[in-house]
Amino acid sequence: MRGRDNSIPGFFVFEGICKSTTFAIQNNNIKIIKAIKQMSENKRGYLSTGNQKKVTTHRLREMKQQGEKISMLTAYDYSMALAIDQAGMDVILVGDSASNVMAGNSTTLPMTVDQMIYHGKSVMNGVKRAMVVIDMPFGSYQGNPYDAVANAVKIMKETQADCLKLEGGKEILESVGALLNAGIPVMGHLGLMPQSINKYGTYAVRAEEKEEAEKLMEDARLLQEAGCCSIVLEKIPAALAGKVTAELTIPIIGIGAGPHVDGQVLVMHDMLGLNKGFSPRFLRRYANLFDEITSAVQQYIHDVKSSDFPSAEESY
Ligand code: KIV
Repeated sequence: MRGRDNSIPGFFVFEGICKSTTFAIQNNNIKIIKAIKQMSENKRGYLSTGNQKKVTTHRLREMKQQGEKISMLTAYDYSMALAIDQAGMDVILVGDSASNVMAGNSTTLPMTVDQMIYHGKSVMNGVKRAMVVIDMPFGSYQGNPYDAVANAVKIMKETQADCLKLEGGKEILESVGALLNAGIPVMGHLGLMPQSINKYGTYAVRAEEKEEAEKLMEDARLLQEAGCCSIVLEKIPAALAGKVTAELTIPIIGIGAGPHVDGQVLVMHDMLGLNKGFSPRFLRRYANLFDEITSAVQQYIHDVKSSDFPSAEESY
């Protein structure tokens, strides 16, 4: 359900579609004005926004040291980022999974730097507290460190995000080092790396065999030595993820990597049940928004067809 506030022309307000979740944004003027205020305050400061402390790379390290688990979720647009940030998320990932869940592509490969910037900017407009990480898309950093820095600087300048995530270990170490030398925080991503799906030919669990597990461990060490602030481990055995987490001092965030890690990340559409066709073992669904949307839309269609909507109270 969407509404237009006439006092702010062109500004669309998302009203939560699932009454049972804490992600609902209520459609009243005070909330809208607060949201806009937050949006503009956001642009002023980097590490501190009003009374709220921004989650930084330093804070993530502190959380690992204190044994506090890190929560991370993807977002791709302003309205959802606003709700997720207000719910208290530590890290928001503008994932290139936008290719799958926003654009309907079967892989993440088609995403471009400009498309990631569009999603990144939209998310940054809604976020006050969470650390925002943006995926560098396929082809934007694997070629050489010069192109990697040019693309990374463009993403950082145009979005004002906090960190960039790159998939790979030893093979992309030069690009990782170049970004870090330019002062750009880097989050690594090992295990199942969706940008390499055509090389694997399958989305099956990675690093089950000794050789691949040893390479993953070595890659994680190299990324830490290079200066990465954190690493995402995707779809690998829980025991291996636990071993990496215990050995490394930087925070390890898992997705399908079991419980022995420093934090968890999920794709927002999957955990909210917007993406019904995707049900891997590691996914826990916290809502069933696809069905909620369908029944809300059906109700609206019914109300229009039966002339129940708009009522006298909803007319001028
Ligand atoms: O693009 C993405 O959403 C990701 C997560 C799966 C970690 O990289």
